[in-house]
Amino acid sequence: KSEVDSMTFVLFGATGDLAKRKIFPALYNLFLDNKMPQSFSIIGLGRREWSDFTFKKHVRESLSTFSRHEINDGPKTDEFLNSFHYSPLDVTDDEGYERLLDMIQRHEEELNIPENRLFYLSVAPSLIDVITSNITNSGLGSVKGWKRLIIEKPFGHDLKSAQDLNEKLSKAFEESEIYRIDHYLGKPMVQNLEALEFANPIFQALWNKQYIANVQITASETVGVEDRANYYDQAGAIRDMVQNHMLQILMMTAMQLPKRISSKDIRYEKKKIMESLRPLQKEEVASHVVRGQYGPGEIQGEFALGYKEEDGINNFSKNDTFIAARLWIDDNFWSGVPFYIRTGKRMKEKSTRIVIEFKNPLKDLYITQNEEISPNILTIDISPNESVSLQLNIKNPLNDNKIEPVTVAYSANQKNVPEAYEFLLSDALRGDPTFFAHWNEVELSWRWVQPILEAFEEDIVPLHSYPAGSMGPEAADQLLEEEEFQWW
Ligand code: BG6
Repeated sequence: KSEVDSMTFVLFGATGDLAKRKIFPALYNLFLDNKMPQSFSIIGLGRREWSDFTFKKHVRESLSTFSRHEINDGPKTDEFLNSFHYSPLDVTDDEGYERLLDMIQRHEEELNIPENRLFYLSVAPSLIDVITSNITNSGLGSVKGWKRLIIEKPFGHDLKSAQDLNEKLSKAFEESEIYRIDHYLGKPMVQNLEALEFANPIFQALWNKQYIANVQITASETVGVEDRANYYDQAGAIRDMVQNHMLQILMMTAMQLPKRISSKDIRYEKKKIMESLRPLQKEEVASHVVRGQYGPGEIQGEFALGYKEEDGINNFSKNDTFIAARLWIDDNFWSGVPFYIRTGKRMKEKSTRIVIEFKNPLKDLYITQNEEISPNILTIDISPNESVSLQLNIKNPLNDNKIEPVTVAYSANQKNVPEAYEFLLSDALRGDPTFFAHWNEVELSWRWVQPILEAFEEDIVPLHSYPAGSMGPEAADQLLEEEEFQWW
């Protein structure tokens, strides 16, 4: 028997891409893993005039293409699909919501389940406001059980628009009812950071400025703008990756031991990191942030167009497809330790990784021996491989007893690791918000990013070109050289 409350899952944007690729497969996998409630119904909403039959067929196709567990033809799959219903909805039409309420109440009665409603908004950001106010006005949100709201990024376009959006949301939902998805927080190795830092006293003891020289967070991608020119050319890497995913990884890496491993205490520690992040003045952005855009090049043997030549991008675009930055956390634990982040499209490889470089105060002991001592390095690979490795120095008896770096490593069994969306949905169904972005975090992230947006807008930061297939512009290497470091 599942410990998750019986509920109704109301999905706005049910005919869209995210639903097909991520949401349906995640729900199905949770169902097969017995992590769905005893009784539930899933109401798909969209503009298209689909019937229940068409919808179920669409869901089935999504499962056969994208599900982690293979789809089976047995009664389990039928049982799962039987809980799906579709209703066309024009999200601006008030009466549509009244019909929706009738429909939901009917299903609640049929299944004899409480009024627990989870609203998932997988829609364009411009529709969020109208949908949430209609949820309130129609009475859909007045429940005897619980209600929750899941929303996808982007959460605003800058500080002001994020604040406006949040104000509107807060008229319909309490903060504790809002689950803002940052899918990086659903990645198993990001979720693992907390255990790595706090379940291992040996790391916990070292997790500070006394032992750590610098921290490097890289999320590189090989894909380019794909077919999202409209969105991406307005967003750039700074909004698309830095404001959310990169800063979330930074918070998860830098946070200090919480009082308890609870959502409240972890979020409190994360917020403290954001509050200690040294703000950038617009005029200093150019000294701490590297902005890049890919030119033509070659990735894994294939020619790749430059950004400006991509479909839908104009020849004069100054949009950033690459960002590297140096950040300082001015608290007792981290002051003086640079945190470097970098992310970009059309880079050499797809890889998300955190590298922690340790200090070595004893290095000089070996100078007389003329031996190069490498730093201890802890590498946390988030994707595509999930692994943790630690580089140590050991004398090699087969090489004149010279000291050499060796690596001890743990690698997750790659096969069938649940997807980020499975973890996130499962948490939302259980009402655990730990791995969702709290408004405090989102707002503080925008606050940090805002001067960068303005400096880009005013064009007071150079835009470096980098060849597709590289690790970004040289300026990103120089950023670390200023402190005599290098990207690992
Ligand atoms: C999304 C961005 O949030 O994350 C995309 O909008 C990016 O541009 C994607 O490609 C990367 O996610 P992942 O899980 O593939 O690293």
